[in-house]
Amino acid sequence: MCGIIAYVGDKPSAGKILFKGLHALEYRGYDSSGIALLNERNNIKVFKKKGIVKLAEKKFLKEKLNSNIGIGHTRWATHGEPNNKNSHPILSYSKNFAIVHNGIIENYSSLKQILLEKGYEFNTDTDTEVLINYIEEIYNKSGSNFENALSTALRQIRGAFAIAIINKKTPKYLYGARRGSPLVVGIAEKKFFLASDASPIIKYTNDVIYLKDNEIVKVSSENLKITNLKKEKINPEIKKIELKIEEIEKGGFDSFMLKEIMEQPKSIKRSMLGRINVNTKSLFINGINDYVNKLLNARRIIIVGCGTSWHAGLVAEYFFEKYTRIPVEVEYASEFRYRNPILNSNDVVFFISQSGETADTLESVKITKKKGATALGIVNSVGSSIARATDEGCYLHAGPEIGVASTKAFTSQLIILFMIGVRLARRLDKIKEKKYVEMIYQLDNIPKLVKEILKKKNIIKNIAKIIYKKKSCLYMARGTNYPVGLEGALKLKEISYIHAEGYPAAELKHGPIALLEKGTPVIVICTRSDEYEKTIANIEEVKARKAMVIAILDSKNKHVSKMVDHSIVIPQIKNDFSPILNIIPLQLLAYYVTKYKGLDVDKPRNLAKSVTVE
Ligand code: F6R
Repeated sequence: MCGIIAYVGDKPSAGKILFKGLHALEYRGYDSSGIALLNERNNIKVFKKKGIVKLAEKKFLKEKLNSNIGIGHTRWATHGEPNNKNSHPILSYSKNFAIVHNGIIENYSSLKQILLEKGYEFNTDTDTEVLINYIEEIYNKSGSNFENALSTALRQIRGAFAIAIINKKTPKYLYGARRGSPLVVGIAEKKFFLASDASPIIKYTNDVIYLKDNEIVKVSSENLKITNLKKEKINPEIKKIELKIEEIEKGGFDSFMLKEIMEQPKSIKRSMLGRINVNTKSLFINGINDYVNKLLNARRIIIVGCGTSWHAGLVAEYFFEKYTRIPVEVEYASEFRYRNPILNSNDVVFFISQSGETADTLESVKITKKKGATALGIVNSVGSSIARATDEGCYLHAGPEIGVASTKAFTSQLIILFMIGVRLARRLDKIKEKKYVEMIYQLDNIPKLVKEILKKKNIIKNIAKIIYKKKSCLYMARGTNYPVGLEGALKLKEISYIHAEGYPAAELKHGPIALLEKGTPVIVICTRSDEYEKTIANIEEVKARKAMVIAILDSKNKHVSKMVDHSIVIPQIKNDFSPILNIIPLQLLAYYVTKYKGLDVDKPRNLAKSVTVE
């Protein structure tokens, strides 16, 4: 949510570097974008525009200003509608300071009142302008030391922020700070970068510092200094990032979403690497080894996440309860954090997050730890805030996910959760060695089965062509695949804007069946399970209302295809693991429907990757 990039260095190519960075960060928000540079006459020049990065870049290219220092931003609007005026960077009242900001300043209206009384005028509707003017006010009052003014101001701020600032008073220096929202410092030869994540800086360096909450960084092309809000000096830890440039490029695909869907045989395999070994018939949950005993003795397991990650948690609830018999609860992070959850040291809480930066999930980790429960992460982004805040965790190793709709992260979350469930069940002796080994073989075979499903993409494309003009779709499934129905509906609605809802199949007649008309698409997951005959009965109920039934079937129940309008037959797998296969056709369906509608699959309206505000 909002992408920040800032640069200071010995080469006067700040503008170019910043726009390159903004293209890499665009997936975090694309309502507007812009950069601010200090020119030779020590004036701040801003190039910004509503809409995608290319539009602001066009403005910059007309002038091609050379500069050694600058800040850039791609926005997902919170305060103030997405227009030219509210785009970042934002200048202070005196025009001496320019800021880019990711996050929300909660006490902005009281600060604005103070500033209005002092005669400040405001040109935007943003909380960010209040913040930079407040910093300026303290700077003017406190004897012109920018570092001191920044820490004094930030101590008085409530809310979340990652910021980067340039100013005319100390023109060699770039300043950054964070609380809640992420900020990474990239260190290269006579160059420093500040960025929301590593993607815009890996071209230049692998050495980074993950800034911690309430830290301020001050960099010139020669020096770096980090302090906390008490003005104490911090000795930072420099980490190596292992991201490869190919991982953040489309690699010949028309979109990141398609690339990430097609990549799943590999990404799932990577998630299993070093954890499953069919030769030695072993399964290790590297990452949470120190907490296995805690898990085995847990009074209950709670799983917390948002959106797709929450859906993965729901699948795990079915799996964990069935095989470990430990009670499981799954919670939306946004609810969990505000309802004073009853937790103690006998509880283990898993936090699932692709980005590792989701504000509600991160706050839930802090609450969990405060209450003495164990917090374990299942996170994709290495070094992210949730990964660092949890007691221990398993990385997904799915590689960067850039398409706004989560795809490969979901299947990697599932494989990790299945592995944890199988290992715990064996340790608790709830499954015997023979079954355990069988399960290891089945998990290991999943990438191959996913590959087979991906080969059916043309069948799915043809179905997409039939439904892309529809206004509404329902998804229904039972048991462990019910969350997959929810996830399938989420994929469709978020990128194609077709209204879509997922329901447990039997729930349809408790209300939603009223929505069915002749031809309404109802997507049914009906792969072989103990309840699949009951799902067939639900299909009959839907057909009786003349809806159009599209069924996901497996090779063992192909015969159901005669009863439905369209079917997608996928390979057979044990029902417990079927969610990881059943979601693949639903991802492809959402993708092709969106392509037929002529929409941008990677940049759905109103959305952004990485929700760093609550
Ligand atoms: C849906 C989607 C979102 C995220 C949610 C949580 O396709 O991407 O629903 O799953 O915002 O994000 P993470 O997993 O980064 O915490």
